[in-house]
Amino acid sequence: MFQPAPAADAFASKSELHAELALHLTGLFTGERDRIANAANMSALIFAMLPDLNWAGFYFLNAAGDELVVGPFQGKPACVRIAIGRGVCGTSVAEKRSIVVPDVFAFPGHIACDAASRSELVVPLLKDGKVIGVLDLDSPNPGRFDEEDRAGLEKAAAIFVAATDF
Ligand code: SME
Repeated sequence: MFQPAPAADAFASKSELHAELALHLTGLFTGERDRIANAANMSALIFAMLPDLNWAGFYFLNAAGDELVVGPFQGKPACVRIAIGRGVCGTSVAEKRSIVVPDVFAFPGHIACDAASRSELVVPLLKDGKVIGVLDLDSPNPGRFDEEDRAGLEKAAAIFVAATDF
């Protein structure tokens, strides 16, 4: 059942905000397992709830497993295909781990989709121990993402993967 997303300033702390995000995601996915529907609604919820973002969305691994292809997102149009090992997203897949980039200009090979982006968080989507894509968040503010964001978005990614058919 759709419920409007509360604004970030309605929460006392970042951990409270992430806990609320997880609750809203679980509600959004109830009774729906379609990948595009769930990824689209999740992008919209993250973009609406988390402050200071200019891009939030998904890249999914192609059938050959050698490229990421852009999926549902909120923000400006983005680069469509990213080779594994390239950019922050491709590095997250290659290394099978989340990457927090406080300053995108200091990350070798960073792919600039929106020139406004200054910091980035990429979380791999893991299904049965295999990477099937990434969740990517960009901010116009340097140092926007910390360990609490990483943990919160990893939990959100796990909720998405468990609630969705691939
Ligand atoms: N910056 C990413 C590319 C995707 S856009 O930020 C939406 C990267 O370096 O992989």
